[in-house]
Amino acid sequence: MLLVFLVAAVVSQTAARFTADWTSLDARPLPSWYDEAKLGIFIHWGVFSVPGFDSEWFWWHWQGQQPPDQKCVRYMSENFPPGFSYPEFAPQFHAQFFNPGDWADIFKASGAKYVVLTAKHHEGFTNWGSPNSWNWNSVDTGPHRDLVGDLGEAVRNRSLHYGLYNSLYEWFHPLYLNDKKNGFKSQEFVMHKLLPELYNMVVRYRPEVIWSDGDWEAPDTYWNSTQFLAWLYNDSPVKDTVVTNDRWGAGCSCKHGGYYNCQDKYTPGQLPKHKWEKCTSVDTFSWGYRRNMHIKELMDLPSIIEDLVSTVALGGNYLLNVGPTPDGMIPAVFEERLRGVGAWLNINGEAIYTTKPWRVQTENTTIPIWYTSKGTAIYAIMTTKPPKGTVQLLEPKTSAATRVTLLGNTEALPWAPVKPSAGLTILLPELSYTPGQAWTLKLEGVQ
Ligand SMILES: *[C@@H]1O[C@H](CO)[C@@H](O)[C@H](O)[C@H]1NC(C)=O
Ligand SMILES: *[C@@H]1O[C@H](CO)[C@@H](O)[C@H](O)[C@H]1NC(C)=O
Ligand SMILES: *[C@@H]1O[C@H](CO)[C@@H](O)[C@H](O)[C@H]1NC(C)=O
Repeated sequence: MLLVFLVAAVVSQTAARFTADWTSLDARPLPSWYDEAKLGIFIHWGVFSVPGFDSEWFWWHWQGQQPPDQKCVRYMSENFPPGFSYPEFAPQFHAQFFNPGDWADIFKASGAKYVVLTAKHHEGFTNWGSPNSWNWNSVDTGPHRDLVGDLGEAVRNRSLHYGLYNSLYEWFHPLYLNDKKNGFKSQEFVMHKLLPELYNMVVRYRPEVIWSDGDWEAPDTYWNSTQFLAWLYNDSPVKDTVVTNDRWGAGCSCKHGGYYNCQDKYTPGQLPKHKWEKCTSVDTFSWGYRRNMHIKELMDLPSIIEDLVSTVALGGNYLLNVGPTPDGMIPAVFEERLRGVGAWLNINGEAIYTTKPWRVQTENTTIPIWYTSKGTAIYAIMTTKPPKGTVQLLEPKTSAATRVTLLGNTEALPWAPVKPSAGLTILLPELSYTPGQAWTLKLEGVQ
């Protein structure tokens, strides 16, 4: 026992440090909690929630891009006094109904194991009292509250991991615009705004996910990404548990960092070699709250479940986004979706959490099937109700010991081989109604 302890102490003391280059950083093993978690909740909340129109990109579409988006220009001229500027939305970010415990209860009920909040989106407004974002943060104006800290406390209290989204670039920051004008040869924005704020954020809130974004206009050398990550992995208070994504500079996405997001809503056609995460939004038009959203523009529960299942079968994590209102409410329709996912996971979670991709990820004989595996069990998830009372699976290799059950139901189901040791036809019981419209077969004694 003592020897084990001594060896462990020596190993941890001599553990190699990461150096500030991609070869070293990319070789860091991903902390295991992340792959086991499978499901996270993404929250886009900020000043953009106040206009609540178009998307979280509203400011850019209205006043950044050339030519501006006429629908945003019209929305402003028809609803706000002439000369109204975007920063004037901040005092209306009241968050007066924000109850972090209520939010965390909803996230917990969704079955998610981690939560990622926008600490700062491209507009530059921080949802915490950043000393580097004077008067453009949630403590100096708007809610007058540490949103990042208060949500973090509630989320952690429910044993969920807490992550923070951080945009590297800020559309209109004068120092950023100046660096950009200099072809990113100067780093005034990075040295005086981005990095002090980011280091401070990590030390204060100890996020276990850093969901980086807004990297694409400049190379990672401009952002000092490798130096930051080396500190994060070697010396930060979250060095052992933190995970990061892949948005650390132009050309990094899908190539460098921790897990890969590739593009938003990325859906690979086959099993990727590297751990990845699909981020997507219940509101298919926006990540931030929209006052004019319609139900037909939202993902329904069966499509969310199918997306979650196919993502996990292909080795990914699923990060599902909701956009709260500026009053601090999670729209009831989003809450209903999240609770629906949780209800489905209460029965089928065994086929999701801590699973690994199987030898074959999908087949479509009777109906589309997605496979996952855990230990010696494999799970065949049906995202459609089979038209008849049987389902045929061609990929599993059966044996005399093969046993099939339906999750939520303890009885073994009758089955017959298709060929002597490959494939089986399973006689299904009456499939009870589930709002998620997906059922899981558990197969044991198969290969
Ligand atoms: C959550 O808060 C309650 C009440 O303050 C406390 O008793 C409990 O230990 C906390 N749970 C965790 C996991 O922090
Ligand atoms: C940024 O990177 C440069 C080297 O490219 C290094 O000299 C400097 O210390 C780094 N700064 C921070 C704050 O990481
Ligand atoms: C499964 O097969 C059916 C019938 O050939 C087809 O209509 C459907 O699109 C397929 N589904 C998938 C997910 O490949």
